[in-house]
Amino acid sequence: MPRFLLLAMATLAVGTAALSQPVRVEERRLAEVERGRALAEARCAACHAVTANAASPNPESPGFEDIANRKGLSSATLRQYLRNAHNYPEAMQFKLDRGQVRDLSAYIVTLKRSDYKPAI
Ligand code: HEC
Repeated sequence: MPRFLLLAMATLAVGTAALSQPVRVEERRLAEVERGRALAEARCAACHAVTANAASPNPESPGFEDIANRKGLSSATLRQYLRNAHNYPEAMQFKLDRGQVRDLSAYIVTLKRSDYKPAI
């Protein structure tokens, strides 16, 4: 095989590997978001508004959009909070495993808005 062809193939292989990395990360994140949303609907929606522009069934519970748009909140700070059930208010009598925490946090931060204004 001519040398230049080998080189071209090697370059292509390296390029493809570099490209598929972020794609795979993005796919994994989208799967987390999807699972997180389903979980929020199933486990949190009895009290919290879990989507944008919705009112919480339990007025004591902040909507997830309000939580997502709190200053300084990131998926990392949210994960830290949700990982430890001792942080929870009394109404939240449950535990979440690490995967659930990761999925829920990935979903909740998708509710961040640059033009967010609190309802009051
Ligand atoms: C039985 C009702 C109920 C359910 C179900 C519930 N929550 Fe809550 N949650 C509350 C209440 C009430 C508060 C507010 C407590 C307060 O402000 O003192 C709250 C607050 C929160 C907060 C904000 C804490 C803070 O810093 O103010 C987060 C985050 C949260 N809930 C996440 C979740 C998630 C995720 C789920 C589902 C897995 C869930 N909650 C299910 C009642 C509930």
